[in-house]
Amino acid sequence: MISAVLGMQFGDEGKGKLTDFLSDRFQVAVRFNGGGNAGHTVVVNGKTFKFHLVPSGSLRCETVVLGNGMVIDPHALIQEIDNLRASKCKASIKISKMAHVVTPMHKVLDRKEEEIRSKLSIGTTAQGIGPTYEDKYARTGIRMIDLLSAEILREKIDTIFRMKESLLKDTEFSSPSARETMVLDLFRSGKLLEPYMEYTEVTVRQLYDEGKSILFEGAQGTMLDIDFGMYPFVTSSNALAGALSLGAGFPFRKVDYVIGVVKAYMSKVGAGPFPTEIQGDDAHNLRELGREYGTTTGRPRRVGWLDIPLLRYAIKMNDADALAITRLDTLGEMDKIRVCVSYKKDGQEIDYIPRTFREMDDLELEYIDVKPWGKISESLIKEHNFAVLPEPMKDYIKLIENHLKVPVDVISLGQGRENTLVRDGSRLRDQEPFLQDSDQSL
Ligand code: IMP
Repeated sequence: MISAVLGMQFGDEGKGKLTDFLSDRFQVAVRFNGGGNAGHTVVVNGKTFKFHLVPSGSLRCETVVLGNGMVIDPHALIQEIDNLRASKCKASIKISKMAHVVTPMHKVLDRKEEEIRSKLSIGTTAQGIGPTYEDKYARTGIRMIDLLSAEILREKIDTIFRMKESLLKDTEFSSPSARETMVLDLFRSGKLLEPYMEYTEVTVRQLYDEGKSILFEGAQGTMLDIDFGMYPFVTSSNALAGALSLGAGFPFRKVDYVIGVVKAYMSKVGAGPFPTEIQGDDAHNLRELGREYGTTTGRPRRVGWLDIPLLRYAIKMNDADALAITRLDTLGEMDKIRVCVSYKKDGQEIDYIPRTFREMDDLELEYIDVKPWGKISESLIKEHNFAVLPEPMKDYIKLIENHLKVPVDVISLGQGRENTLVRDGSRLRDQEPFLQDSDQSL
């Protein structure tokens, strides 16, 4: 089966956890967008792994691919590969020669651009993502393959510096010797990463032709998509399912099953419109219960109630076949739970998602209250049986399915891989795990 996992909200839905859970059913995991801005947390046997660049399927898939649509900090990647190897991970790692390179200069540019935006600042992760994609589209970008030539690196760094000199003139990179040090450092990283570099669109196609099962792994979420999110409070790449075609060079028509990951409530880091955001005690409780602090930046996340109109939009934009709902354990512990079921203007329901603060001004949100289900006991979770779960929680899932007309195939009740339940009737049931429990060291 060819499948894709995508975030249906503002990122941080739990895609990493889901991908890791599914990774014993897929031989190949492929990332196709974003870079170190993503923070995917995976917990296995009580041990926490944090991935920013390598796919979250890395612990168990045979092959993992970092596609051309990604932007990669070579230092950070070497570190992640070292960590994986130290954890006895045996996955074969393939990095696209065409992926773009994030340098320390891009990280400085990210901060400088945010300063200039001032009131309009996005609250980026400061990982150099925006400036690296800017260079890609300005056709001055550095690609992974360029790391193999100090001469090309020197030319490209010089061009980027001259184009962005007004921003860089008061920084360490105004010094030619600092730029030369960076060139040599990047070149050294390139040498270390060379054995992993390939034209990965060819590799992925070959793996497909050999009949391997492939899982495409989205980063960020629909509302952070540069075209269809809350622009300008978005990331600099496309985060929708369709982005895998261009970010991995694989035809979207061949994808059999798109699963949208939905956190049972909403959360967001960074600025921008957030229709169902809550404040005060409820927000504080939800943030603390869910430990809602950014994986990449540690910033407290903004939180809110589940937003059905926004999810309806995300499901359509990604053509999601099914949903995985995460953090149901967290939400159940709130003493009050609400769900936004429609957006209205002048008392009339609207069928689009307002994308600007101005449009948001006169937006009326219709909420319904839902009964909390309390703390779910470990023993109940371990039964892996939907039937025994608390009735109000099952009602919450039914409410989501009824409003969105898409089945909830997976339920996540805790950070660990074992706290995940695939429902009867899910298409994932046709894709039995390849690995036996005894084979699973990771
Ligand atoms: P950038 O991608 O670092 O440029 O940040 C742009 C916006 O996207 C900011 O609001 C970030 O907080 C947000 N963002 C980027 N990546 C992620 C992610 O993986 N999860 C959640 N938010 C993200």
